[in-house]
Amino acid sequence: YDYDVLVVGSANVDLVIGVERRPAAGETVLGSDLAVHLGGKGANQAVAAARLGARTALLARVGDDANGRLLLESQRSAGVDTTSVLVGGAPTGVALITVDPSGDNSIVVSPGANGRLTPEDVRAAGPLVRASRVVSAQLEIPLETVVEVVRQLPSGTRFVLNPSPPRALPAEVLAACDPLIVNEHEARVILGGEAIGDDPAAWARELLASGPESVVVTLGSQGALVASAEGEVVRVASVQVEAVDTTGAGDSFTAALAWKLGAGASLAEAAAYAARVGAVAVTRRGAQESFPTAAEVEAL
Ligand code: RIB
Ligand code: NA
Repeated sequence: YDYDVLVVGSANVDLVIGVERRPAAGETVLGSDLAVHLGGKGANQAVAAARLGARTALLARVGDDANGRLLLESQRSAGVDTTSVLVGGAPTGVALITVDPSGDNSIVVSPGANGRLTPEDVRAAGPLVRASRVVSAQLEIPLETVVEVVRQLPSGTRFVLNPSPPRALPAEVLAACDPLIVNEHEARVILGGEAIGDDPAAWARELLASGPESVVVTLGSQGALVASAEGEVVRVASVQVEAVDTTGAGDSFTAALAWKLGAGASLAEAAAYAARVGAVAVTRRGAQESFPTAAEVEAL
């Protein structure tokens, strides 16, 4: 394989304002100065993997504009192969983000060019898909594009999906996931939006029964649960840190997990490493700027 990780997904510029609390409908609140960070779940994963040392490529679409150029520059300086980042068709994606005093965020994404990444673009990138050990996707691009990724996967290439923002998934996509990676909110939507109780281990088992080869349920500061057909549900501890901004931490978790799985780690080993990567990311502001190198993860 030429690449350890191929990320297929979104690239956004993040416009971030710190708030004491989020406004209710019809309400205006004052926040901090504006911070502009580079984000997008796909672009974040690619930078995170590359910074850890993975040979990484990104298949994405940005606008032919200043934001698109900033994102391409950020990918290249992290060492990501951007040959398959397509340009044009709509403005670069933008995320409007508020971060509260506990470091938690709320995000509205305007997909822009991300919404124009098509199944045809995936077919055109077939050689790249076949050259990659692990392919990782999220849902800030059209679902039919993710379906095409699954159809292009060679046997032996591992597929990792974080269904964010969540929506119901076709059986074809669920069956390809190894693992499906969800937080609590995503678990609820994928499981049909019903009241599914409060036991994350039960969610993991139910998700597994819906088709994936394996499942990871991330629980923020509580760590994660991993479940695969061969084994029990296993809890992976997190590292306790002082969070200042959780934006992108989940993306760095997924990227680290994908890379370690490709390198032969077990799901539990990979998740434990990924939890350490995410722990560093939440201690720093922004998404891509906050991701650690392998040496910084060791030092934690
Ligand atoms: O997962 C965090 C990311 O979600 C942000 O960088 C923002 O761009 C949105 O895509
Ligand atoms: Na961060």
